[in-house]
Amino acid sequence: MTFKPAPWPRKLRSQHWFGGNSKDAIYRRSWMGNQGFPPDMFDGRPVIGICNTWSELTPCNAHLRDLAERVKFGIYEAGGFPVEFPVFSPSEVALRPTAMMFRNLAAMDVEESLRGKPIDGVVLLAGCDKTTPALLMGAASVDIPAIMISGGPMLNGHFRGETIGSGTHIRHFSAAVAAGEMTPEEFAAAEASMSRSAGSCNTMGTASTMASMAEALGMAMSGNAAIPAVDSRRRMMSQLTGRRIVDMVKDDLKPSDIMTKPAFENAIRTNGAIGGSTNAVVHLLALAGRVGIDLTLDDWDRCGKDVPTIVNLMPSGKYLMEEFFYAGGLPVVIKHLGESGLLHKDALTVSGGSIWDEVKDVQNWNDDVILPVENALTASGGIAVLRGNLAPNGAVLKPSAASPHLMKHRGRAVVFEDIEDYKAKIADDDLDIDETCVMVLKNCGPRGYPGMAEVGDMVLPPKVLKKGVRDMVRISDARMSGTAYGTVVLHTSPEAAVGGPLAVVRDGDMIALDVAGRSISLEISGAELAARLADWTPPVQKPAGGYAQLYHERVNGAEQGADFDFLVGCRGNDVARESH
Ligand code: FES
Repeated sequence: MTFKPAPWPRKLRSQHWFGGNSKDAIYRRSWMGNQGFPPDMFDGRPVIGICNTWSELTPCNAHLRDLAERVKFGIYEAGGFPVEFPVFSPSEVALRPTAMMFRNLAAMDVEESLRGKPIDGVVLLAGCDKTTPALLMGAASVDIPAIMISGGPMLNGHFRGETIGSGTHIRHFSAAVAAGEMTPEEFAAAEASMSRSAGSCNTMGTASTMASMAEALGMAMSGNAAIPAVDSRRRMMSQLTGRRIVDMVKDDLKPSDIMTKPAFENAIRTNGAIGGSTNAVVHLLALAGRVGIDLTLDDWDRCGKDVPTIVNLMPSGKYLMEEFFYAGGLPVVIKHLGESGLLHKDALTVSGGSIWDEVKDVQNWNDDVILPVENALTASGGIAVLRGNLAPNGAVLKPSAASPHLMKHRGRAVVFEDIEDYKAKIADDDLDIDETCVMVLKNCGPRGYPGMAEVGDMVLPPKVLKKGVRDMVRISDARMSGTAYGTVVLHTSPEAAVGGPLAVVRDGDMIALDVAGRSISLEISGAELAARLADWTPPVQKPAGGYAQLYHERVNGAEQGADFDFLVGCRGNDVARESH
């Protein structure tokens, strides 16, 4: 940690818009004044953007305007000038073909908004799977002082005496209906019980994982990830975040100061300890690319290998984010990593101090929620990175969500050429499949779907479910929801749609998975594989125009975070030319 605050006072970038008495400055102050801002708001104090993904069509972010008001209190208190602005809000709930296709669009919106507007620092207000990484990515590429405040998870769901978690129980119930153990009417009756307050998914799904990543990276205040959306302390932290960003601007404490390689390694280890989502892999790879950090899949495997999963939350465990907060939340986990020699203790955070200073005095208030290491859910909880002739550029698997008896498995491939093929065949009793087979799904990667859909955790065939079987080995180039579970090999790269070996797997091929050995193999000869690849023709039509075409042409592979090739890197915050 070598951060040295910049001298203060000094001229800020917002003064290039508002300072002095030129025609343009008067024009801008006059226009801004129509909202009732007093003239002294433009006197050189820090102008703080509140970048808000609020949207009624992103229901997990629908309460963020309320939190933005609290952020404003804090900014005013600290002597700043808050200006809230909306950015594109990719909702996990209601956006087709997939919210992931629009993460990069949102990140572009954030980047260009921050660079083009009179903003000296920014509060990133987000709370869904893609909104969180998108805002961090956009801010990283501009590199002005930035701090994240998450929307927070919703309260626990309850249905007929059972605690139910976002996403995870949809899958449990859906499988139970397919197995004939639950009626569709009972499933529908659970609907109102699942999402009963404002906030993001209450499992350790992708939203909670990414809020935890923001905190572990040092980009949010300590304790941010777990405070429930409706808890008064979420509002309090919003206000404190507003105060803090003003001082960060004065100190010129930027994302590039905080998001260093050690910070990413802390985040990867934290992901292992919380049993976090596999989606964190693509998002952190993309984010690292924005700040110019050389982060690879091998870093994920190396850093995560020795980290036990100690957070007993669904989908890997038993509890939900509400209990995690009451137990002490993420600071307890980070403290544990520090005590185990698995933390870069001196990594800088938005506090201006070290991450260790933030957590060293916290306590675990419930060791059934945050487990002692000897009772860990999984001894090696990090994301396993698999390679082999089926995934030359890598594939990932989440051990804490997988079945121990399937971690080494050899089975006959049952191939689905795309998601429509899967949907058409899976419920057919004549499908030649049993629980020893390996389900293979193609053409669901970044280009293939497009947008790398969360379909990798294919629901098992009903005839297998009816036997009481709940897991099989599944392989695809897709992602899976952070609320999902199973022995699921994801992000297989190169993806099928660009001619990766996954594209030429055939029904009846034998596939061998060995998680401990980090391998995934298609058991055919090199010559046979080469011949099949030489015969392969792309099945995917190029989107005709619009953002989908841009995405298809410029998206990187999953092993690079599925960012656009032209967005990798930091383009800085130079003040643009005058527009008049
Ligand atoms: Fe937005 Fe889960 S759908 S947080």
